[in-house]
Amino acid sequence: MSDHTQVVMTDMNYAKDRPKAANPVKIEDLSLRDGHQSLFATRGRTEDMLPVAEMMDQVGFWAMEVWGGATFDTMHRFLNEDPWERIRTLKRYIKKTPFSMLLRGQNLVGYRNYADDVAKIFVQRAAENGMDIFRTFDALNDYRNFETVVPVIKSCGKHFQGCICYTLTEPRLGGEVYNLEYYLSKAKALEAMGADSICIKDMAGLIAPYDAYTIVKAMKAAVKPPIHLHSHFTSGMSALSHLKAIEAGVDIVDAVMAPYAYRTSHAAIEPLVMALLGTNRDTGFDIRLLGQINEILEKEVMPKYRHLLDDTKMAIIDINVLLHQTPGGMLSNLVNQLREMDALDKIAQVYAELPRVRKDLGQIPLVTPTSQIVGVQTVNNVLFDDGNERYKRITGQVKDLCYGLYGKTAVPINAEVQKKALKGYPRGEEPITCRPAEVLEPELKKAQEEIKGLAVDLDDEILYALYPVTGKRFLKWKYGKEEAPAEVRPKTLEQALKERELVKKALAGELVEKAKKEAAPPKTECLRTFNVFVDDEYFAVGVDEVGGSPVISYMQQLPAAPAAPTTAAAPMGMFMPPLRTTAPAAPKAPTAPAAAPAAPKPAAAAKPTAAPKPAAAVVDGTPLVAPMPGMIVSYSKQVGDTVTEGETVVVLEAMKMENALPAPVAGTIKAITRKSGDSVAKNDVLAVIA
Ligand code: CO
Repeated sequence: MSDHTQVVMTDMNYAKDRPKAANPVKIEDLSLRDGHQSLFATRGRTEDMLPVAEMMDQVGFWAMEVWGGATFDTMHRFLNEDPWERIRTLKRYIKKTPFSMLLRGQNLVGYRNYADDVAKIFVQRAAENGMDIFRTFDALNDYRNFETVVPVIKSCGKHFQGCICYTLTEPRLGGEVYNLEYYLSKAKALEAMGADSICIKDMAGLIAPYDAYTIVKAMKAAVKPPIHLHSHFTSGMSALSHLKAIEAGVDIVDAVMAPYAYRTSHAAIEPLVMALLGTNRDTGFDIRLLGQINEILEKEVMPKYRHLLDDTKMAIIDINVLLHQTPGGMLSNLVNQLREMDALDKIAQVYAELPRVRKDLGQIPLVTPTSQIVGVQTVNNVLFDDGNERYKRITGQVKDLCYGLYGKTAVPINAEVQKKALKGYPRGEEPITCRPAEVLEPELKKAQEEIKGLAVDLDDEILYALYPVTGKRFLKWKYGKEEAPAEVRPKTLEQALKERELVKKALAGELVEKAKKEAAPPKTECLRTFNVFVDDEYFAVGVDEVGGSPVISYMQQLPAAPAAPTTAAAPMGMFMPPLRTTAPAAPKAPTAPAAAPAAPKPAAAAKPTAAPKPAAAVVDGTPLVAPMPGMIVSYSKQVGDTVTEGETVVVLEAMKMENALPAPVAGTIKAITRKSGDSVAKNDVLAVIA
């Protein structure tokens, strides 16, 4: 092709001083946000970005994505890091390259629409802390959800990048909804809103190379702002799509450093640089510098994160994305959810039901949070619907969607489903047609009042306004009001390497051998036997109390028994009444049953993963148990309150969704065993009703 003229390459040209291309492709590096979000559950710590920060600043990226998306949530929740501080710290090392963040429109960096006052102040503070480019998207591509944030981005003098979430209903671009005209009309709408650049956000890796070519070519002709392609690797097509988009004249593409590349992340930068070397779209990057960065990442950073990589499958691509068009993250959520409910055998039914639910709900794109909304409802339908009735159990989020709280769907929602969902809906049975945030009351003042005395500045207050439960807990850690638990503290490279060594030894059987050699103490008459259920496995565990500290004297694995009654399948947001009406017989001894030979712990250090609390076990009544692991958001009831069957007792956050757990029976709350902010395991007793 004439516009890809080769220049004569010598070894010297590997370095930066090779002739500059006529129209270099600009590259945004995503390693420090989408890279670790995709591969390592967003657990990347600021301290692990610093070893390469200055070198990455020298590469010549158009921008580096370093913030937003899930980072704000995971940092304060799991890493005990102040999200605002990350921007300021990185800015001290990365001085030339602009910073980019992922902004979920009116959802900001959360999972629901926030009120306008919170949205405005959040964007302003992000800009003031050092954010330069605001990559803004809305899960429904409803740009009314941009109307509040865009003027603030602009008035702060920052770059507004408008996204179009890329989705399909057909195997390839086309059909009645998501066709070329749809994408062109969205690009024009973004241009009219003042977009400084337009991003095709292909979160599931669905864009096929020749469709990427068609869309980019058409957009370049139709609108003025630069066109940017963000395509996840999940399906395996993204590197091919990059190349076709580059041929079509795309201005910017997203990629990551090799250790952060592929799987559900993005294609790597290094092969792209080599593929374009010497062409008129040569990036101009120094491949040797990229090599040096890689070496540091591999040696000093990756050992700390390797254990988070999902390497259960040989393939690094997900063929299911090609077959079912479900984003990689959504797929693993669905599988986890079914596994939780012992219903993994229903996965084929879920695949079949998913497109029906999506169609009923207005053919919405599948991206956070709509992917969860559609996914959870699909599982509910598969588990609970029968020949006579569909949508037997509708989640709160589907009701919100039907009300219009997320925005306008691509095609109208199935009227029958909508009517059923809105029956008795607290905001009203008639859906809204206005911009969703217009029905939301201001939130900032109230949040500021609530967090008075703990929050020190506006950034603390915003953190609390966005995440009241985990935000408050983080501020307590931050200001030394509470000690941060061990699991949120960073791990050193030495620790990480030691752990890997241990895993290696365990796999080689060396640890097991040692354990076998330990002689068991003789059994005494104090021996008590406990039945312990771990998923499908049942263990009879003898506990012999010696000197006040329980030790395991024998442990025998028995054939798998059916799940205990209280583990009966219950979907997210739903609760199946347990078959038994009283709590399991509790040991009379004051100590909690010890299922593992752990060293005695001080009673005060309540571990979130501990066995059910003795308090619940000794109160007679019907337990309300957690249908899945999660975090307590709040209790709607207190001890002594009366409840009717089905009334909400506690709100549990699981898989990024809030689930109202209803009372399994009518009665009085006899015990509340947890508090707001506590992490709970599946089947933990959360309250007892009698
Ligand atoms: Co992404």
